[in-house]
Amino acid sequence: MSTFLENSTLFRKVLMALTGLFLSVFLIVHLAGNLQLLLPPDQASIQFNQYSKFMTSNLLIKIVSYVLYLSIILHAVLSLIITLKNKKSAGGGYAYDKRAKVSNWYSRNMGILGTIILLFLIVHMKDFWYEYKFGSLPMDAEGNKDLFSIVVSAFGEPLYVVGYIIAFVALGYHLLHGIFSAFKTFGAYPSRISSLLYFISTGLTILLTVGFIFIPIFIYLKYHIA
Ligand code: HEM
Repeated sequence: MSTFLENSTLFRKVLMALTGLFLSVFLIVHLAGNLQLLLPPDQASIQFNQYSKFMTSNLLIKIVSYVLYLSIILHAVLSLIITLKNKKSAGGGYAYDKRAKVSNWYSRNMGILGTIILLFLIVHMKDFWYEYKFGSLPMDAEGNKDLFSIVVSAFGEPLYVVGYIIAFVALGYHLLHGIFSAFKTFGAYPSRISSLLYFISTGLTILLTVGFIFIPIFIYLKYHIA
C-alpha cells in the first residue's frame, strides 16, 4: 500500500482530493454545530452539551468519525509525500524561478499552511475532544458533560484566541487553493462549470473562515470582557 501511495501520482491526487472534499464537508457540519455556542448563555449551554452527547454517542456518527480520523491522517501523509517528491524533482531549484508569476503564494505553500493546521489540530483535539472523551468534565443541569464551559473558559485566554485566529487564516488560504484544486482533479477544468465551481469554492472558504474566526472572538468578548 505504501509503495503504491508513493508511486501512483494520479491515485495520490484523487485520494488527496477525495479526503480534502470530505474534510471540507466535515468543516461545514462542525461550524454549524459550533454556531450553537453563540446562542443566549442558558440555551447555548444546554443545547451545545446535548449536541455534543448526540455527536459522540450516535453509532452512525461514530463510524463517520473514524472515516474522518482516517481522512485527516491520509491527507497529511499524502501531502508530505507530494511535497517531498516535488522538492526532489525540482532539484536544487530553478535558475530563474517563474512560479511566483503564475501561481499564488498560498498555492505554493500548501505544505506550510497544512502544517500550521496540523499543529492546531493537535492542540484542539487535546483540549476539547480528548477532554470530552477521557477527561473528568463537570455535569450540567441536565446531567450531560459540560463541554460548553470548557470551550468558554479556553477562549478566555487572549493568546489562545490569537492562536486560533492564526490557524483559521491558514485554514482559509489552504481551502482557497484546496477546494478548487480538488474539483480540477475530478476534471472540472477547463469547462463551462469551472467558473461556477471557483465561485462556490471561494464563497465556501470565506464563509467557513469568517464563521470559525467569529466564534472565539465572540466568546472572549461576551464571557470574559463584558
Ligand atoms: C471556533 C472554532 C471551533 C470550535 C469552537 C471547535 C470545537 C470543538 C469541540 C468542542 C470538539 C469536541 C466535541 C466534538 O467532538 O464535537 C471538537 C472536535 C473536533 N474539531 Fe473542532 N472546533 C472548532 C474548529 C475546528 C476546525 C477549524 C477544525 C479543523 C481544521 C476542527 C477539527 C475538529 C476535529 C477533527 C474534531 C474531532 C471530531 C470528532 O471526533 O468527530 N475544529 N471541536
